[in-house]
Amino acid sequence: MKIVTIIGARPQFIKSAPFSKAVQKLKSNGDENKGTINELVVHTGQHFDANMSDVFFEELNIPKPAYNLQINSTSHGIMTGRMIESIESILMKEMPDWVMVYGDTNSTLAGALAAVKLNIPIVHVEAGLRSYNRKMPEEINRVLTDQCADCLFCPTRQAVKNLEREGFSNFIKDGSLVEFSDLRNLALEIGATHHPVIINVGDTMYDAVLQFAEIARKKCRILDQLEIHPRQYLLATIHRQYNTDCPANLLEILSAFIEIDEPIIFPVHPRTKKYVDMTNLDLKSSKVRCIPPVGYLDMLTLEQNSKSILTDSGGIQKEAYFFGVPCITLRTETEWVETVETGWNVVVGTDRKRIVETTKKLKMENPRPDMYGDGKAAEKMIKFLFAFKKRKLV
Ligand code: UD1
Ligand code: UDP
Repeated sequence: MKIVTIIGARPQFIKSAPFSKAVQKLKSNGDENKGTINELVVHTGQHFDANMSDVFFEELNIPKPAYNLQINSTSHGIMTGRMIESIESILMKEMPDWVMVYGDTNSTLAGALAAVKLNIPIVHVEAGLRSYNRKMPEEINRVLTDQCADCLFCPTRQAVKNLEREGFSNFIKDGSLVEFSDLRNLALEIGATHHPVIINVGDTMYDAVLQFAEIARKKCRILDQLEIHPRQYLLATIHRQYNTDCPANLLEILSAFIEIDEPIIFPVHPRTKKYVDMTNLDLKSSKVRCIPPVGYLDMLTLEQNSKSILTDSGGIQKEAYFFGVPCITLRTETEWVETVETGWNVVVGTDRKRIVETTKKLKMENPRPDMYGDGKAAEKMIKFLFAFKKRKLV
């Protein structure tokens, strides 16, 4: 089974790593499928700084990309268009059984559009998420990618429900998490009538956290390097287009960080750096410490030891939940509604006063049920794809 994996942005390296690891495992010591799988990684180049790309390939042991398209730093249309053109020629040459795309970036959509036009089956990992905010480029990317995909691997029950609301009907087991032992039969049962296939396998970011949090705990010295102590600092990230490129929103958020008056570690995304540098705010004499983006292991260490997390990132909202750290989301809505419903995440928008007040009040003692699978999402995906292929349904 030949798979072409298309990734390009930081969160996609992390989301794809557990699948690549499961492929490697199967190649060396797997079951009857041993040796019959081949994954080729295409890096679109969307993220390209060493601390936004290389560090993740090294730390998470992701296969070296067979192709790096080096397409970045331009408008949505140009970026997506150039990616489609390059990916199309790669797919025509490689002719894989599946194209795998992750999440909701321009690289995701470009991969899906290139593949669907060549009739190559598409797997969308992290399918079904919705913010219902069509002004977010990510929302458009994920809605369109779901429309192109043949196999929609959802991370949560809510994601399956979202697809059901849009008229998709072929979800398996009412959208509840699929058990490992059910996969083969499910793939056989659903037959050719089920197209596309919608299945809740759990979240590959949760797989990644389970695989790497302990390694991070043992290896990382970032707290010592920054001279900070567990639970005595907050962690912040911002990179959403509507928070960075809108001076009013950025000013409100940064003013709140200053007013919070507690140490805030702030790894600054390259997009954000440009705009932070343009403000007149005196962050240097505040307790906000701007640092360059950090690698995954350092980030996991910073997250698990922080008192609370302020972010507009999708992945970080979830990681806060995995670690039982309260999260304040600097947006007006979230795709990860379960984190809000369980009381671990508060969506506050960008109002300075509200950010400051919520940060002071946060205390989290609520239960934290498992909502993102059992850490075996990637292995379930492979098993399902194999069983499906054997039935020659694709
Ligand atoms: C992209 C994704 C977003 C995702 C985020 C993860 C889209 C539409 N957006 O947003 O969904 O949450 O990645 O971080 O696909 N830059 C650098 N060095 C880098 C990477 C980016 O300097 O290594 C600069 C680019 O030159 C560009 C800006 O950052 O000017 C934005 O990069 P881009 O990839 O367009 O969007 P992100 O904001 O990173
Ligand atoms: N991350 C990281 N270093 C950083 C910031 C984020 O390793 O300096 C990781 C973070 O732990 C999470 C992922 O990047 O796994 C989230 O990516 P990002 O916030 O860029 O994108 P989003 O999830 O919003 O799409």
